[in-house]
Amino acid sequence: MSQRVTRRQFLNYSLMGVGSFMAAGIALPMGRFALDPLFKSGSAGGMITTSVKISELKEEPTKVDFKFEQKDAWYTSEVTAFAWVYKDGENVVALSPTCKHLGCTVNWNGDKENPNQFYCPCHSGRYEKNGKNIPGTPPLAPLDQYETGEKGGMLTIGKKHPNELAK
Ligand code: FES
Repeated sequence: MSQRVTRRQFLNYSLMGVGSFMAAGIALPMGRFALDPLFKSGSAGGMITTSVKISELKEEPTKVDFKFEQKDAWYTSEVTAFAWVYKDGENVVALSPTCKHLGCTVNWNGDKENPNQFYCPCHSGRYEKNGKNIPGTPPLAPLDQYETGEKGGMLTIGKKHPNELAK
């Protein structure tokens, strides 16, 4: 027994096939775009290796540069940032240089009248060595901290998080 396909059925099948093909053409790139970060290795929680040896770190905060890739929609660029890093006994502390008042950059020992503090030149904000904001100066929160680690004797820097040292 042979079944003949009517003209109406043939058109229906053809339209469904073309419609499915077009829907897949739209949905696949959208799905890939949404899930893209999950397929990238090391995109989450990755530590950046710096050019500074752990053994060279001192108790005095030092400026340590590090580079990372920043993706802004489809544009990828390399960004250079830095942290103030020092040794506290066996621990390595890395602090963000971004002032918690209005975002200027803080300097270690930047104010000769208040030595051994971080100083923000924009509105004279001051912080203790552990990043704690000094009451009576504009910043209302401590400097953020970076995760730190070691890889082959070199300092690694990770994600920024709220300061856990300043109490
Ligand atoms: S931005 Fe640092 S004190 Fe205002």
